[in-house]
Amino acid sequence: MRHILVVGIGSGNPEHMTIQAINALNSADVLFLPTKGAKKAELADIRRDIVARYVTNPESRTVDYAVPVRRTEGQSYMQGVDEWHAAIAEIHEAMFRTELGEHGTGAFLVWGDPMLYDSTIRILERVGRRGNVAFDYSVIPGITSVQALCASHRIPLNLVGQPVVITTGRRLADSFPDIVETAVVMLDGEQAFQRIEDPDAMIYWGAYLGTPDEIVISGRLSEVKEKILATRADARTRHGWIMDIYLLQKGTDFEE
Ligand SMILES: C[S@@+](CC[C@H](N)C(=O)[O-])C[C@H]1O[C@@H](n2cnc3c(N)ncnc32)[C@H](O)[C@@H]1O
Repeated sequence: MRHILVVGIGSGNPEHMTIQAINALNSADVLFLPTKGAKKAELADIRRDIVARYVTNPESRTVDYAVPVRRTEGQSYMQGVDEWHAAIAEIHEAMFRTELGEHGTGAFLVWGDPMLYDSTIRILERVGRRGNVAFDYSVIPGITSVQALCASHRIPLNLVGQPVVITTGRRLADSFPDIVETAVVMLDGEQAFQRIEDPDAMIYWGAYLGTPDEIVISGRLSEVKEKILATRADARTRHGWIMDIYLLQKGTDFEE
């Protein structure tokens, strides 16, 4: 049966690659590399760099595939994502049939860790349900951007004995600061932190973590908010794209 490896490659620094991930890539016949359009060419370059550095298996080859763009108009967010996953599942299915022998192994190089705001696993399940190609799959964990953020700021993720919410910019107001004291925000296109008015809130922000372009800013939210907004806007213009993540926290350890 065909086997698919879902390999977490870390969040920007090629040295995030674990030995398990390197061994997995070297056991694959085909490495599937997504292309995301010119603006995010740098992300494709990081995957290529990882392949060039670590893949020593002379039998393996890479196959590029274009990731369709998610349609946002005329439907709800959930409908848009569902339609997008269906389109990607079709591409995956076609690649498995045409690029892999019946007992071949393929690998996806997944940004960060495959369990965190990534749909590769979900999409593979969808391909399986379509029933047109037989395969199984395994998952190799990677360093997430949450870990990269905390490491760069040299902070623990949680306050002692306290929970953490990992959320998106769209949903931040549902949890922080009223429900939880620590929130990690990913996929935030609207800089939701600017709407948080809590005078005790601290922010730990990072962009392009793990890459030579990494930027980190931290401090009391009310004092560094404008600096983060300006730095972010400037970096986004210079690169043509941005990936950023932040942790908001209020309160301190051992506070009742
Ligand atoms: C589609 S999610 C993928 C998350 C990934 N699976 C992980 O484990 O981190 C993309 C989001 O992750 C965050 N992210 C990933 N890599 C990052 C990096 N190097 N620097 C800053 N944020 C990053 C950003 O919030 C970005 O919008």
